[in-house]
Amino acid sequence: MAGTTLRYQHDSLHMEEVNLVEVAKQYGTPCYLYSKKTLLDNWRNFDEAFSHHPHRTCYAVKANSNLAILNLFAGLQSGFDIVSVGELERVLAAGGHPHHIIFSGIGKKSHEIMRALEVGIHCFNVESETECDRLNEIAATLNKIAPIGLRINPNIDARTHPYIATGLNENKFGIAHADALSIVEKIQSLPHLKLIGIGSHIGSQLTEVSPFVEAIQRLLELAHQLHAKGIVLQHINIGGGLGINYRHEIPPTIHEYAKAVIPAIASFPGEVIFEPGRAIVANAGVLLTTIEYLKETPHKNFAVVDAAMNDLLRPALYDAWHEIKPVRLRKKGASKLYDVVGPVCESADFLGKERELMVEAGDLLVVQSAGAYGFSMSSNYNSRPRAAEVMVDGRETRLIRERETLQDLWAHERAIT
Ligand code: LLP
Repeated sequence: MAGTTLRYQHDSLHMEEVNLVEVAKQYGTPCYLYSKKTLLDNWRNFDEAFSHHPHRTCYAVKANSNLAILNLFAGLQSGFDIVSVGELERVLAAGGHPHHIIFSGIGKKSHEIMRALEVGIHCFNVESETECDRLNEIAATLNKIAPIGLRINPNIDARTHPYIATGLNENKFGIAHADALSIVEKIQSLPHLKLIGIGSHIGSQLTEVSPFVEAIQRLLELAHQLHAKGIVLQHINIGGGLGINYRHEIPPTIHEYAKAVIPAIASFPGEVIFEPGRAIVANAGVLLTTIEYLKETPHKNFAVVDAAMNDLLRPALYDAWHEIKPVRLRKKGASKLYDVVGPVCESADFLGKERELMVEAGDLLVVQSAGAYGFSMSSNYNSRPRAAEVMVDGRETRLIRERETLQDLWAHERAIT
């Protein structure tokens, strides 16, 4: 179980020193569990891999935005990559420093821009010409200068799932490389904008280093062109995207990634910004769930669990594989192939297909590598309250998000008739 602190002890799965059977008793299921040690180790490993080059690690909040996790990273002086005012306020509430925040995304609303200018974030990653106009207007009303990082779309194939590839011409993200110089001219003509950096984020769950290196080379070409025009950049942002091992993938380790990236950026004298999400939090988290029923048919066996696509959407949306393990190792019985499915009324509601398991109804399962894009993509579909979240720290557990109540489900609705 690479990178996690999960292990079997006396035939029962533990995270750090905590028996998951006890967690289920105390907090119920479904429940997300995160290892504090793995979170801290992953962030530090990432950051330290670049310690010889001026850099800032800006954790991508969308991967997991729980306040306790943001607070852990804020304590390490992490920067943050955000995509909404909701994420901005979360980071501030968790003690993150505004000067270390980068605001990405193609659809920033005026009130979001205003708030980010008010608190003084590090920069806005701008993705279109029209966004430049809006930023300039709002900054003018506040009598401020908006710091700009230009997001370039380098048209590079990240060789990942099409839904999470972002660096191709057909994708909605960034500014085409060919248009970059004209947009830079425009930025310079707008009195309330200041260009401080350029960057790209070509996709997520990348399993090779070469697309990153290619993207950096394109950014450096542009940096040189700008330099020739007398524009000196403070930073280059190479985004997030480093993949993890879910099943058969063998993504570069953080050190292999650094080994490929560092020579590519060595000639750039300014700061390098990274926006990792998955590589920091994915393998720190699991989703703990109980088997409610075993349904065995002549065609298929189903393990019907109490977690569903509303709790973990990745299998339904991307056909993503997450390793599934029993919490208690049974010594007797026959293992069978099961589709591990939830109670939601959709055939896409599965957490894993054709998994070999020796289980009985009432047993607990963990769905691994669920710390990234797990809870943060969860919903109330089928009027299911969202799961509890728990942080494991050595022998201790702390509730970091209460399980939603039934009343929470309709708290913002009005029965007007
Ligand atoms: N920076 C930007 C501008 C991004 O759009 C993203 C992710 C990141 C950084 C962080 O990427 P990471 O290091 O986590 O790969 N829901 C999908 C992933 C969507 C990623 C969206 N952007 C999934 O579950 O695989």
